[in-house]
Amino acid sequence: MKVTVVGAGAVGASCAEYIAIKNFASEVVLLDIKEGYAEGKAMDLMQTASLNGFDTKITGSTNDYSKTANSDVAVITSGIPRKPGMTREELIGINAGIVKTVSKNLLEHSPNTIIIVVSNPMDTMTYLVHKTTDLPKHKIIGMGGALDSARFKYRLAEVLEAPISDVDGMVIGGHSDKGMVPLINHAARNSVKVSEFLPQERMQQVVEDTKVGGATLTKLLGTSAWYAPGAAVSGLVQAIACDQRKIYPCSTFLEGEYGLNDICIGVPVVLGKNGIEKVVEIELSEAEKAKLKESAEGVTKTNGLLEL
Ligand code: LAC
Repeated sequence: MKVTVVGAGAVGASCAEYIAIKNFASEVVLLDIKEGYAEGKAMDLMQTASLNGFDTKITGSTNDYSKTANSDVAVITSGIPRKPGMTREELIGINAGIVKTVSKNLLEHSPNTIIIVVSNPMDTMTYLVHKTTDLPKHKIIGMGGALDSARFKYRLAEVLEAPISDVDGMVIGGHSDKGMVPLINHAARNSVKVSEFLPQERMQQVVEDTKVGGATLTKLLGTSAWYAPGAAVSGLVQAIACDQRKIYPCSTFLEGEYGLNDICIGVPVVLGKNGIEKVVEIELSEAEKAKLKESAEGVTKTNGLLEL
């Protein structure tokens, strides 16, 4: 399994690191436009191999896509991250041009690759890849829901005073402060619904804290987060590489599922060797359906800013 990660910034490097540490890929190529930067990050990461016990070979390249040839999975993290106070949607102008060029370059050398989009505004960037390449929809995956769900579980564990391994929860909808739909009524602690443990106000607080999970970190760090985004990407890549058929919420092109059309937005999918093996349609309450619809309206509005 050969994986390319485009963008050797904090998120890209963290993706490469977590993929390597999990030791399921033979090769990770890190690529960046900044001269020598990806090579440097790759070398630094390779010098952790004997310490962290992995055999994945990590190499770096300054914008030479021939090095990425025949990748099985390519992760796009390139573009600018948000600064404190910015929304992900405000990044569209710069990032759309970058994501379009990067996906074209990747496919020139790896026409059969699966693309995972991380650049923001993620759902719209995923839609852009869908609209501007010939890749089939099951090979275009937007990473947002896996990260947002991890942040949801972090908040749930905190409020429940429970270990993270005891909690389960999923976030669907758009990967934006307003658009996320944490499915609090489905969240559980060891199969017991969290409503058994928490009053309504605390459940609502978890939802609100989850939705601004990325913004809270951006404020603290001065730029957007990288550890959890990198770990979330590595989970998706592993599900594909090892044909795990795990369920993750991912942004995918919908044609009628959940009553939505012509949009990429986060819904639960089965991830396996072909990428998105299946969209899982779960039963949503009327309130959840309304929130997903509203989220989709927001994503569609952002999509309207694209010059396709
Ligand atoms: C975040 C970015 C990766 O949520 O969108 O941290």
